Amino acid sequence: MRAWRFHEFGPIENLVLEEADMPVPAAGEALVRVRYAALNPADRYMVAGKYPRPAPRPFSVGRDACGIIEQAAEGGRFKAGDEVIVLRSEVGVSRTGTLAQYVTVPEASLAPLPAGWTPQEGAAGPLVMLTAWQGLVQRGNLQPGQTALVTGTSGGVGSAAIQLAKGLGAKAIGMSRSEDKKARLLELGADAIVDTDIATFGAQVKEALHGGRVDIVIENLGGPWLEECVKVCGVDGKIMVIGLLAGLSSEVTLGLLIFKCITIQGMNVGANTPEEAQEAWAGIVKTLEAVGQKPLIDSEFAFEDVQAAFARLQSGPFGKVVVKVAG
Ligand SMILES: NC(=O)c1ccc[n+]([C@@H]2O[C@H](COP(=O)([O-])OP(=O)(O)OC[C@H]3O[C@@H](n4cnc5c(N)ncnc54)[C@H](OP(=O)(O)O)[C@@H]3O)[C@@H](O)[C@H]2O)c1
Repeated sequence: MRAWRFHEFGPIENLVLEEADMPVPAAGEALVRVRYAALNPADRYMVAGKYPRPAPRPFSVGRDACGIIEQAAEGGRFKAGDEVIVLRSEVGVSRTGTLAQYVTVPEASLAPLPAGWTPQEGAAGPLVMLTAWQGLVQRGNLQPGQTALVTGTSGGVGSAAIQLAKGLGAKAIGMSRSEDKKARLLELGADAIVDTDIATFGAQVKEALHGGRVDIVIENLGGPWLEECVKVCGVDGKIMVIGLLAGLSSEVTLGLLIFKCITIQGMNVGANTPEEAQEAWAGIVKTLEAVGQKPLIDSEFAFEDVQAAFARLQSGPFGKVVVKVAG
């Protein structure tokens, strides 16, 4: 089969399309023929050797996919020909990933393609939706009527967080560097979108709150933005540290944390057990269905054009970048 693999850590160009052995499912695993895969920034960190757990090499990245069961797990829930999606698991982390024509997946980390979703949406949804859900619901306990502030809003996790926060009956405030994306985020359902001028960020968020307060922050950026989030967060607010697109380290004013009793919590979608991921996924599908939302697709690339797809991801997408592996 053909797979995008890297042999040495380094730039994303180290990822090359080449022949690889057909994977063989172990007990409890299914062999899936990949139709669509979706990219995540972690794939790039993985190739760079900057992921906390370095991958074995040669290694095929990719954590999201929608595909067809080629060989079902014995005694499992799925049969050959079923259309399935891959929930966040060790696929693309410590075992070979979805940027390949075939992938083996533990049956416990497969779910059916939700009714009415395209295979592109099925590939785009799982990792970012599960991440946003963990921040908002599993760790954040967001309640209807509360307010979520989402940084890095137009990307995969950010747009998912807006859709889910609205589906949960909360208010959602986001940000973007682009006027066009600000308008599109408002169309997606955000209550307000501020711009990324860091000097006026606090004042802009305060104005958007209309006297309310920020209860939860979905923080995708890091760097200088964590301190800005601490400044605008309300008393007893929770800041979910998810991403580090704007910097690996941050300085925060401890007096503000103490004074406002703010919780800063790191979170990792990979910390879910397969059972927790399945339960979260069921909640996500129900929440999106209730408000008529589906995962947002930024763009679709051919299997041969994975390098261009990563360039698009790096440039700041609006939703998810997907790759057509077999259509
Ligand atoms: N902890 C976890 O379990 C977990 C899970 C998934 C992802 N992550 C991490 O979360 C982060 C976000 O992931 P993602 O998939 O949503 O990324 P993404 O799809 O690449 O989107 C990020 C968005 O953030 C904005 N942005 C990017 N760089 C920025 C910068 N320097 N300053 C301000 N805004 C910037 C861009 O929006 P505009 O162009 O509109 O400004 C972009 O669309 C990544 O670091 C990822 O690795 C963590």
